Amino acid sequence: MFRLSVILSAIFLLSFCTSKQQEEISQPDISIVPVPVNLTQTGGVFTLPDTVSIAAVTPAEQEIAQFLLDYFSTQQIPANLTQDSTASIVLRSFVSKEILPEGYYHMVVNATGVDIFSTTEAGLFYGVQSLMQLVNTNQHVSEIPFVTITDFPRFAWRGLHLDVCRHFFPVEFVKRYIDLMAQYKFNTFHWHLTEDQGWRIEIKKYPKLATIAAYRKETLIGHYTDQPHKFDGTRYGGYYTQEEIKEVVDYAAKRYVTIVPEIEMPGHALAALSAYPHLGCTGGPYEASPLWGVFDDVFCAGKESTFEFLTDVLDEVIALFPGEYIHVGGDECPKTRWEKCTHCQQRMKAEGLHDEHELQSYFIKRIEKYLNGKGKKIIGWDEILEGGLAPNAAVMSWRGEAGGIAAAQAGHNVVMTPGFALYFDHYQAESEGEPVAFGGNSTLKKVYEYDPIPFALNQEETGFILGAQANLWTEYIATTDHIEYMIYPRALALAEVTWSPKENRNWNNFVQRLPHQFSLLDQKNVNYRKPKPDELK
Ligand code: ACM
Ligand code: ZN
Repeated sequence: MFRLSVILSAIFLLSFCTSKQQEEISQPDISIVPVPVNLTQTGGVFTLPDTVSIAAVTPAEQEIAQFLLDYFSTQQIPANLTQDSTASIVLRSFVSKEILPEGYYHMVVNATGVDIFSTTEAGLFYGVQSLMQLVNTNQHVSEIPFVTITDFPRFAWRGLHLDVCRHFFPVEFVKRYIDLMAQYKFNTFHWHLTEDQGWRIEIKKYPKLATIAAYRKETLIGHYTDQPHKFDGTRYGGYYTQEEIKEVVDYAAKRYVTIVPEIEMPGHALAALSAYPHLGCTGGPYEASPLWGVFDDVFCAGKESTFEFLTDVLDEVIALFPGEYIHVGGDECPKTRWEKCTHCQQRMKAEGLHDEHELQSYFIKRIEKYLNGKGKKIIGWDEILEGGLAPNAAVMSWRGEAGGIAAAQAGHNVVMTPGFALYFDHYQAESEGEPVAFGGNSTLKKVYEYDPIPFALNQEETGFILGAQANLWTEYIATTDHIEYMIYPRALALAEVTWSPKENRNWNNFVQRLPHQFSLLDQKNVNYRKPKPDELK
């Protein structure tokens, strides 16, 4: 009886407290992007003590805790690391899969503090990212709203791409790009490293890639369609040393971001040809292009020396990038030179290939075989379907969704990056008043409403859609501020598309969560574009 009365009075007290807290403290407006699978506000806030203790035991947990320590330090809140499980914030990875499914994280904020746990380190990291958005709720850094969150990603590939060839960006910025990706739970950074206009990765065996291929003599002024073409007369270029690449790979790994390097073949190869002209059908001379576009001079598919060069390059690339995928390009490769080249025609005859599309397919299949032998998988733009898809290749669908649909129907993995929604080099509003962009119009709302699973696919085929990615080509983007302007806030919409369940996606609710996200981006001085009110309807 005594026990029952204690329980009853406890319940009474609890309900009294809750209603009192709800009277006194209005429910904080929580804004987490991407929106979690399940979030319940339980009423009230946890007030951080004067010195915040964070419990983390394993080295990985401690590295994750460091992000919180760094954050608190920027807010002048003293914080330290402990192994004491009574700490205000407790971080745990590797909880049993009987407690929580693989890859999920669970977070509870209540009167005793914050507890985040996951079966994996990545899950814990994402829990901490959510906490960093919560800690800032209503600008009260020391008050964390009471919540219970269970969360996990919808897709395995949540990507952003960056073209560092049309314009080149320093290592420090690439790190910042990755850091912001991690804030929004992106996990794949597609680093577009080679192009007609510049080769950006040091390859020790081919030093002229750094001394010659990394530079062009000048750059187009204005838009490609402005005629006649005018050039700036200024030599332009740069490249990443292998030491710098390792530094970026390591930086990304600490943020649970995998880097997919892209080495373009057989097209978009002018810069490489400028340094090693024997790799082209005509033998050159060639120059890294001052102009944008698609060029007839590509790697010769007939000469053995082309494959020697590319496999040597890939050996060094493999040694630098631990991820499972290497992107081999494959897009926009005119067949003009191959049609006239005795080496290419000889190859077609010897291999029984009927046309130049089959020759491109031979090229990619041969590279795939080599990379599979080294334990790597290839991914390529949807042109790699033409002439026959390499047996194990994944397809990045950019010319709409047709390539992705065909690949998934054929049982190949697919990443959706359709130009109509996910090309962030396109305008994000009417072009009036916007910086010159490639063209198109991919608004924040259009990105938000994109779904990576095409209606045409059945249940089984749907399983081949790894996820989605936005691409940022930099023909018309020369500064890091301009990159951020094109990426944010559209990346917030994509984060929700790739992470959150489809049924949780709600445009009006997303719009309500934007101001808080803008304040977080302001704290990091991100040059995001502020949407106009009528764009948020
Ligand atoms: C591409 O935009 N050329 C893949
Ligand atoms: Zn040739």
